[in-house]
Amino acid sequence: MKKAWWKESVVYQVYPRSFCDSNGDGVGDLRGMESKLDYIRELGVNVIWMSPVYKSPNDDNGYDISDYRAIMDEFGTMEDFEHLLAAAHERGLKLVMDLVVNHTSDEHPWFLESRSSRDNPKRDYYIWREPVNGREPNNWGSVFSGPAWEWDETTGMYYLHCFSKKQPDLNWENPKVRDEVFDMMTWWCEKGVDGFRMDVISMISKPDGMPDAPQEPGAAYGIAMQDGCCCNGPRVHEYLREMNRRVLSQYNLMTVGETAQVNVREAKRYAGSDGSELNMVFAFEHVELDARPDGKWHLDRISLPAFKENMRKWQDELDEVAWNSLFLCNHDQPRIVSRLGDESPDSAKCIATMLHLHQGTPYVYQGEELGMTNCPFGSIENYRDVETLNAYRELTEAGLREPEELLRCIAYKSRDNARTPMQWDGTENAGFSTGTPWIMVNPNYTRINVAAQRKDPDSVFHYYKKLIALRRGGRWADAVVYGKYRLLAPEDESIYAYTRTWEDVTLLVVCNLSAGQARFAVPAGLARTDAAVVIANMEPPALTETLPLKPWQAVVWAVRGDGQD
Ligand code: GLC
Ligand code: CA
Repeated sequence: MKKAWWKESVVYQVYPRSFCDSNGDGVGDLRGMESKLDYIRELGVNVIWMSPVYKSPNDDNGYDISDYRAIMDEFGTMEDFEHLLAAAHERGLKLVMDLVVNHTSDEHPWFLESRSSRDNPKRDYYIWREPVNGREPNNWGSVFSGPAWEWDETTGMYYLHCFSKKQPDLNWENPKVRDEVFDMMTWWCEKGVDGFRMDVISMISKPDGMPDAPQEPGAAYGIAMQDGCCCNGPRVHEYLREMNRRVLSQYNLMTVGETAQVNVREAKRYAGSDGSELNMVFAFEHVELDARPDGKWHLDRISLPAFKENMRKWQDELDEVAWNSLFLCNHDQPRIVSRLGDESPDSAKCIATMLHLHQGTPYVYQGEELGMTNCPFGSIENYRDVETLNAYRELTEAGLREPEELLRCIAYKSRDNARTPMQWDGTENAGFSTGTPWIMVNPNYTRINVAAQRKDPDSVFHYYKKLIALRRGGRWADAVVYGKYRLLAPEDESIYAYTRTWEDVTLLVVCNLSAGQARFAVPAGLARTDAAVVIANMEPPALTETLPLKPWQAVVWAVRGDGQD
């Protein structure tokens, strides 16, 4: 196994809009973020990934960029950015940018030119098609509801937008588009940024001839966002290798692809240890186990055996040949304590232990380290997210879902659950802003906040610090980072247990992911009286062959040898 700094890192994701507002306009910004760098450092992470801060009309909160070389007005100026970058570096923190190049905003000058006439030199920067039988060129639906094609009056053609109609897809087949993107990336690298998280990068190559996508019975559109259609398309690896050759390999970066619909086979190519494409990918199978063929708007729970089998597959298959990223939370996912846990601090710590002891680079999403929960938004008016609002409108208007029932699913799954303001303290607006926040604050901020948890040595925050420290150095770090994974008791409905073995050390991880008591039969070679407790979220039992576990109890032990008699 080759060692690398990005394998030994822990990343903290900041969603700047909701992190800290320095000027009272209700929107988080770069100066606010800078004022919290010491907090991030205190947590012990060494890398920050921040969601997009580029100029944007904010149809999708910055994932619709109108100028890649300017900062969004609400977030500040380029000077603020440079200040932030320098301040991060002074504290030993690396800063990874979000790179959104599957699409731009429809307000980007490239698109304004492209749509102005059929023979504009930038026409082929985007994907334009003639109507077919007076309609859209194919059956593709947008990820954000409705068709993936928008009719454009000026030139009488459709353009493709896999996301909102204000996010037209770039045409990567055009070498000029690739030149533009690579030049822009180089420009940011020259400024000193430390890497890129690449938004839906698995979607940049569209299938030849753009045929219809498979369509569920009763569905209005085909699902273009799938393997073999817009995801993992025919030239995606060629494009990424070109990007690697021309930009990434010239700098010492961390790169992570947000690869929608990636499977293990594709991940080995995107994140292969030959280093020809990216360092690692975000895979989504494990957080999509509670979806149905018609999408995410359901109340189903993730089954633990299915979850474990999925984690096992990724751990085993990528071992030595590629590299995993480890995450349960980000700005697109509901809060994990409301999904896998019961919102208690014990459940937050148990879930964190379960995740962080895997092989891969862990990502902590702002507020996760406090056990922040889903938000009781109540009515649809309180939501802001384009995906949520479009889905609600489309599904209720078409009579496909009852408003009240759908609203319950939205409360459970909406991305806005992750986007409520960071809970800094118990003062008004959770200390996020002196003005009116752009989205409601979770009313539980009086209980769950940074100030309170900093003071309490038993808090979720202090537990995350210990968990992160384990990986960042000390006795067990090699085993935590590089150890080989082995799943135990795959069928158990409550317990997730596994080992990590590196040289002559084996870590035994046992997590009771349930609100009930549980018992775990420790494999013979591991039940050893000389085992050391590495971390535990409550008083651990002795390591005997039958372990009694309290609700949400998590313990990690270290034993000598590989633990297999
Ligand atoms: C990614 C982002 C998400 C965004 C979408 C379109 O999935 O994480 O927030 O809406 O891409 O850019
Ligand atoms: Ca502000």
